[in-house]
Amino acid sequence: MRGVILAGGTGSRLSPLTKIINKHLLPVGPYPMIYWSVIKMKEAGINQILIITNKESLSMFIQLLGDGEELGVQIHYKVQQDANGIADGISLAKSFVDKDKFIVLLGDNIFETALTQYIQSFQYQEAGAKVLLKEVSDPQRYGVAEINPEKKTVTSIQEKPNKPLTNYCVVGIYLFDNHVFQYIEKISPSDRGELEVTDLNNMYIKQQQLTYDVLSGWWIDAGTHESLYKANTLIYQKMGKEKCE
Ligand code: DAU
Repeated sequence: MRGVILAGGTGSRLSPLTKIINKHLLPVGPYPMIYWSVIKMKEAGINQILIITNKESLSMFIQLLGDGEELGVQIHYKVQQDANGIADGISLAKSFVDKDKFIVLLGDNIFETALTQYIQSFQYQEAGAKVLLKEVSDPQRYGVAEINPEKKTVTSIQEKPNKPLTNYCVVGIYLFDNHVFQYIEKISPSDRGELEVTDLNNMYIKQQQLTYDVLSGWWIDAGTHESLYKANTLIYQKMGKEKCE
């Protein structure tokens, strides 16, 4: 399976840190944030990786990661012209993934657990997509899922609802089959002018083809000042623990 990392967007919630530096190049522990997505892909046996970023940042990513040799993977790049949404970013992966299933990571999501078990269970899924969920205390910040626990399917997702129906946040780890590109062509920009990944996942829900797993271990969307600080703390704690073991 091939992997796609989204590392574009505006990073506005991290301003002024992101005024001149792409969010995914900010430090998380001893590495720039983007390293963690690459490390997670490699750990799960994915070594063909496409990084999608904006035109202003592309040269910095190339300078940092090159073709990926130093990290033991092969890295390819694509430019998203404008921050038109996560689904718009995913559309750029079409020729890279060809007919295969693939995994998408949002580059600002930092998490503990290896992706291997989720990738394996998606390989057994005949068709459709899979999202990973996490119970959180502040679901209104995220995509929020209603689920059918017997069937292990998602029955609805609302993007940043004022009154969340559950505490299940949809984390930025998505597994798609190749139909995703047809679905992206069918969705329209949201009120904030973006092609939303939530609208995309809701297309799979209509076909009763969106399954879920609950992500184990800690997880953080490092897109705000506080959560970036928390991500650093969690990474240093994990590294400290590993040193002692
Ligand atoms: O972190 C999980 C959440 O991520 C989900 O629960 C939400 O459903 C999903 O919409 C997303 O919400 P955010 O508001 O956190 O998305 P954000 O705009 O911060 O972008 C997430 C990542 O995607 C970030 O690493 C930048 C990248 N991105 C974003 C946009 C809008 C792109 O590469 N291109 C884009 O056009």
